[in-house]
This record gives sequence, structure tokens and C-alpha cells, in this order.
Amino acid sequence: MASPGREGFEASLAELSASAPALIAGADGLPALEAARVSLLGRKGRLTLLLKSLKDLDLEDRKRLGPEANGLKGRIEASLDEKLGALQGAALEKELDSFRLDLSLPGSPCPRGRRHPLVQTADEMAEILRRLGFSWAEGPHVESDHYNFWALNFPPDHPAMDAHDTFYVKAAPGRTLLLRTHTSPVQIRTLEAQRPPKPVRIISPGRVFRHENADASHSAVFHQIEGLCVDRGVTMADLKGTLRLFLEGLFGPGTRMRLRPSFFPFTEPSAQVDIQCTLCQGAGCPVCKRLGWLEILGAGMVHPNVLRGAGYDPEVWSGYAWGLGVERVAMLKKQVKDIRLFYQNDLRFLEQWS
Ligand code: DAH
Repeated sequence: MASPGREGFEASLAELSASAPALIAGADGLPALEAARVSLLGRKGRLTLLLKSLKDLDLEDRKRLGPEANGLKGRIEASLDEKLGALQGAALEKELDSFRLDLSLPGSPCPRGRRHPLVQTADEMAEILRRLGFSWAEGPHVESDHYNFWALNFPPDHPAMDAHDTFYVKAAPGRTLLLRTHTSPVQIRTLEAQRPPKPVRIISPGRVFRHENADASHSAVFHQIEGLCVDRGVTMADLKGTLRLFLEGLFGPGTRMRLRPSFFPFTEPSAQVDIQCTLCQGAGCPVCKRLGWLEILGAGMVHPNVLRGAGYDPEVWSGYAWGLGVERVAMLKKQVKDIRLFYQNDLRFLEQWS
């Protein structure tokens, strides 16, 4: 005996089997195909509902019609997949067809960067000194008063500190932190790091800070390069020879230099080093204030107190050191009249040197 819903089931199955292929084939885009899928196989789709109604049939009818209905489901799924692939392929074809690569058009510009003139100057100095056997060392911008002053043999309240007024940083009680006023603290840090004491030959380029009102030749933030050589038997002749090679490398062969007595707490003797004015060759001009000479750096023989404090016996070791301003050298070499131009990031200025 046939179950009551059998005829309706068979009719629906036949109807779906006949109409589904046309429904899918007729979908003219992805949205239409999705609508077809939902109407057939969605939660309330026609085939879904039909499959649900299988359970109302008799066992015999279920055994026969169940596989038939599931077979139809499989065929519908396969043709939905096939149609989906076809529609996606067509969409891609269309996109590719509409894309035209015109090789005759000019390319999009790719502007080339360059190093900042101060970096160029520091790199140039570092390269000369690298060839002379100096390696590169760095130290922190936020420094302790110990490294910035006391280990460098500044006596407390010495007038030499007047030129080193700076910005202080909040620190734990009993500790004084400041923005370093020179690169000389790196001398101490480098020497202290050698245990047992070893020969040292370093340069230390970097940023330094001073409480300074900005004008054409002053800035509260600027750059220095420190040099330090410590070994057995180093003399002032080594200092002079090294500085001669350095300054000739930087300002050209034949550059004349002179040493004048000076004072720094961390060197003894100390010297102010001048070069003959690069603009007037010593004749006197506004750049050298009619002196014919330009102050270029401070230097000297490392003070015995500095060596001893850093763990180097001054009876065994001696050394020389110097420090110079990167901005000053860059201004002379590139004929820049106002230090503030270096910090304004104006491309019309920066693009002049590559
Ligand atoms: N640190 C000094 C300053 O900023 C410059 C200087 C002078 C450094 C003499 C040295 C040196 O290493 O020997 O004023």
C-alpha cells in the first residue's frame, strides 16, 4: 500500500528535477545564482523541505524515493558549483579585458632621498678617522652628572661649567640626570668598559644639549664628534699628527693648522686648534673676523685624574682626546650662514647637497 503523501512527493521531485537546471542556467550573475541556491537548498528551499517530508512516507517509499531525492540534491549542488565557477571566471575575464596597460605613459616619480647635511658631514669625518684606525662608540643622551662632569675632572663649582648649563631630568633622590653637554662622557664609559685596561682608539659622534638661546650660530641641540686614543707611550706629537691628517682630509690637502694653549678640566695640556681660514686663506675676512684663522676644535692630553678614575694607571698609559662641533664644520664646508637652517627640514635647503 502506498503512503498518503507519495504521489505529491513524486510530483514535486519530478517538477524540481525538471525546473532546477533551467533556474541555475538562467542565473545571469552572482546575486541571481545565490537567489537560485536559496530557493532550492536554503533553510526553507524547495528541495530542503521536500527532503524533510521524506520522514512522513512509508518505509518502502522512503527506501526508493530517498536516494532519488538525495541524488537530485547532489546534481543540483554540482551544477550550482559549476555555474559559480563560470560566473567568477567571466567576471575575471571582464576585469582583465577592461584593464589596459599603456607602456608609453610616463612612470610615476620615485623621489630619491638623501642624507641630511649634518649626517653627511659627520659621516665624512667618521670615514677619515675610520681609515686612521678609530672605531665607533656611542653613549646616552641622558647622562649622569658623574659622567658629564666629575669623572672628567670638573671640580664642583668650577667656572668651566658655566659653558655647560643644560637641561636637568627628574631623577631619584641623590642622583642627578641631565642632557649631556658634550660627547666627552663617552671617553669615560669607553675606558671603564675595558677590563683589564687595553689600548683604545674611538670616535663618538652624537647629539649634545646646552641651555642656549638660539641665534645664527647657537642652538640648544647640536652635534659633536669626540676622539680618544689611549695607549702606552702616546704623546702630543701623535695628537698633532692625527689632527693634521684629519683636518687635511676634511678641508683639503695643505690645510694649515695651529695649536694655541687652552684649558679643559679633562686634558693637560689643553689646546685650541685652529685652521687657516678656508675662505680668505689667512688674509682676513668677515667669516674669520679678520683673524685669518678659524677655531675648529678643542683637544689635549688626557688628564691623569681622568685616566686614574677610569682604571688606567697614568704611569703606564697616556692618551689624547679632542672634541669638535659637527654644525661648525658643516657650516664652513657648505657655506651655511645660519645654524638654524639645519633643523627646519626645508627641502629647498636640504636638497642642495647630495
Ligand atoms: N668637550 C669639550 C666641549 O664640548 C670639547 C673637548 C675639548 C673635547 C677638549 C675633548 C678635548 O675631548 O680634549 O667643550
